Amino acid sequence: MTQAMRVECFGDPSAGVHIHSQTIRPARGRAIVRITHASVGSTDIAAVRGDYLLQPFTGFTPGYDFVGVIENLESVRHSDLQIGQRVAGVLPRMGTHATHIAVAPSLVVPVPDELDSAIAATAPLDAVTARFAISYVGSEEGSLLIQGAGGAVGSWAVQFAKALGYSVFGTASQRTRGLAERLGATVLDYHDPDWMDRLMSATHGGVTGAIDHTGSRALRHAMAPRGRIVRIAFDDESKHQRLSTATGFLAAGLHRCSRPNERMCSVPLIVATRRAAYRNVLASIFRGLAIGSLAAPRAIEHPFGGYADALEHASHGDPGTKTILVMP
Ligand SMILES: NC(=O)c1ccc[n+]([C@@H]2O[C@H](COP(=O)([O-])OP(=O)(O)OC[C@H]3O[C@@H](n4cnc5c(N)ncnc54)[C@H](OP(=O)(O)O)[C@@H]3O)[C@@H](O)[C@H]2O)c1
Repeated sequence: MTQAMRVECFGDPSAGVHIHSQTIRPARGRAIVRITHASVGSTDIAAVRGDYLLQPFTGFTPGYDFVGVIENLESVRHSDLQIGQRVAGVLPRMGTHATHIAVAPSLVVPVPDELDSAIAATAPLDAVTARFAISYVGSEEGSLLIQGAGGAVGSWAVQFAKALGYSVFGTASQRTRGLAERLGATVLDYHDPDWMDRLMSATHGGVTGAIDHTGSRALRHAMAPRGRIVRIAFDDESKHQRLSTATGFLAAGLHRCSRPNERMCSVPLIVATRRAAYRNVLASIFRGLAIGSLAAPRAIEHPFGGYADALEHASHGDPGTKTILVMP
């Protein structure tokens, strides 16, 4: 039996999200994982609100990533996995805000013994997004702008970019500026109308790469010749986020066909199509956390039953924290 959070009505989570119980059977080729921890982030908030392009209808379970324990391998023929093993992963479609999932073994990565489960759960979606986004920038050196450098994805991106040797610039408000600076970014306040001019003069003509979640077109003017923008989202603060995401993805896709200086990075798509690469990246992130070369946000644990509170914390949590749902 699994218990899963189910969005039955978009909007207020205390009214529209309910626990749904159902029997979970090991479908062919799938392992059953008992989930112990799962992160709650901005994508879940958007999905519960009805504002997430990839979940346009009610009746789904939010949550992209998880840490858990392998409970059943009856239907899996060949695999190195073992019953009782601790694993983590990202699903190509949502569904991890649940007590159990049936998952393809190719989606899971072992969690190193020395890594706490709640800490491991802060990483899969956000850190994998940051790491792939940086690799999509293409250049191996130069200057990199990270929009929202004190946010969940941004703070991982700053760490990866610093480790790769980029000169790192980040946008942040006063709220998250301190965190972005501590991680090593030179911070520009995105409320300052002249922040792009300041970036242009600090970089002598523009950055070599940018990771952006705002969909800003103006950002194109802050790029050095052949500099590349990697879009991870299109949060343009309009009330029509689903529409702006759809048009933004389309525009970025078309733009890429004409000039390859704008790319999209979607981890659900990467997980669906580039599984081995995704697993390698997640495994290397766990190694980095285990040896201390990467710093995870502080995990703020919330019980599974307090889902509305968990979502509330995820929207207003302190910089450098991540909301983690703890399953019963
Ligand atoms: N493509 C993918 O696979 C993927 C994966 C995960 C997440 N995402 C998406 O990526 C976006 C960011 O996710 P997240 O979890 O990192 O969110 P987050 O933790 O809320 O961080 C977003 C950051 O953006 C900053 N920000 C707000 N308005 C801004 C503006 N106008 N210009 C520049 N920065 C601004 C905020 O800074 P202040 O707090 O200082 O205001 C905040 O720290 C979301 O849309 C999410 O859905 C995409």
